[in-house]
Amino acid sequence: MTEAAGGVWQAAYIVAALSIVLSIKWLSSPVTARRGVFAGEFGLLFAIIGTLLRQEVLSYEWILVAMAVGAAIGAPLAYLMPMTAVPQLTALSHAFGAFAAALVGTAEYYREPATGFKMTALAIEIVLGYLTTTASVMAFGKLQEIIPTRPMTYRGQNVVNLSLFAFALALGGWMIYQPAPNWVFPAFVGLALLFGVLLIMPIGGGDMPTVIALLNSYAGAACCAMGFALENRLLIIAGAVNASSGFILSVIMCKAMNRSFTNVLFGAFGQVQAGAAAKTAAKPVKSATAEDAAQVLASARKVIIVPGYGMAVAQAQHKLRELTDALTKRGVDVEFAIHPVAGRMPGHMNVLLAEADIPYDRLHEMEDINPDFAEADVALVIGANDVVNPAARHDTTSPIYGMPILDVDKAQTVMVIKRSMNPGFAGIDNELYYMDRTLMLFGDAKSFVGEIVKALPAAG
Ligand code: TAP
Repeated sequence: MTEAAGGVWQAAYIVAALSIVLSIKWLSSPVTARRGVFAGEFGLLFAIIGTLLRQEVLSYEWILVAMAVGAAIGAPLAYLMPMTAVPQLTALSHAFGAFAAALVGTAEYYREPATGFKMTALAIEIVLGYLTTTASVMAFGKLQEIIPTRPMTYRGQNVVNLSLFAFALALGGWMIYQPAPNWVFPAFVGLALLFGVLLIMPIGGGDMPTVIALLNSYAGAACCAMGFALENRLLIIAGAVNASSGFILSVIMCKAMNRSFTNVLFGAFGQVQAGAAAKTAAKPVKSATAEDAAQVLASARKVIIVPGYGMAVAQAQHKLRELTDALTKRGVDVEFAIHPVAGRMPGHMNVLLAEADIPYDRLHEMEDINPDFAEADVALVIGANDVVNPAARHDTTSPIYGMPILDVDKAQTVMVIKRSMNPGFAGIDNELYYMDRTLMLFGDAKSFVGEIVKALPAAG
């Protein structure tokens, strides 16, 4: 490899590192998010090109085979998974990333006995890599509901988990002290894999978004450690950016869900409430037609729309745009209230509403819009459930107790579009539906909103 080629890969790495940092910066606002995605892709492309130009690459055949296999799995996954399954997809991609880091660490361990600093970096890479792999697969299983979403707990669970982790750390310490390959390494790997499973078992489905952000951070930290072990600056930078942004995101989400970190790591949140469906059947609700709903909306001055997961499932955002336009034309003030965990991924509602060209200045975050519900004539809830459940405010026995919610119950009239009385993600009943001021509008969100638009009386 010539000196010039050496200069080229270094330059490619600098471009890659800058693009990755800019990508994170731009991803922090919906206005610049698209640019952020392109910058991230551009950065990764340059990282790959730079790596392929390095002297250490002796043969390209296996790299081409690996790229073909990766693309054959990745491309259909990206095209076929629906938008609502993005959290699962994210969990899987963390599993792949962490597994790659763990395998590189394993290969490096057996390739050349390391000592001191390098061995410490390898041990961190390996433990974080393997535990993130199994933890992410578990998170995928819970989100996909292949395994029960409820927390799986038993007495003394934290003690067992912490003891195992301490044992793994002791083995890691031993490996640093005695770096020559021996039986300790497979035991260390086994413990890390097991710890990943045990870590996720007691965490309920409701806390999975936060956990995924945290696993993203672990995968980044594993890559950063790999950068130190391989003396690769790009991996150090990209891994550190990934680790810190994932960590910050999980802190933000913990705050939004009113959870402490210990709660997320060791809590038992999201337990399905036994008998929710039975209770539901026993209580009466007021249901109304699209024509009734249109009358109420047409005579309102201020309407706050609360979208949730059901809007995403139904892809009702474009119909919602039509409704917003029709009401605005009549002089009704229409605003949107966005809960930080509405839907199934951070920013889910913002993305969908932006796709339908609903102006950003109509979208309000929970803290900003909550005081406005008291003066709203109508709160129109579309496929949202957990994020508007008043039990979170006062029912200390509720699994979602403490989670901040949108105060829709303070509006003069509440209208809820959903298909049935089925519970939402947390699997619990919602007292909002039984209030005197609540009208249930049963149906698919997209077709129901379409019917309301048609039934709106002509503007006078
Ligand atoms: P959910 O509580 O999941 O409720 C969604 C509601 O939409 C359901 O009650 C369902 O009732 C209704 N629905 C489904 N399909 C519909 C359709 N085609 N038309 C009309 N309604 C439909 O949603 P949410 O209020 O947005 O809360 C989100 C939940 O997901 C929270 O518990 C949160 O912790 C969790 N979570 C969030 C994330 C992130 S980061 N956002 C990730 C994973 C989990 P019917 O079946 O009766 O129609």
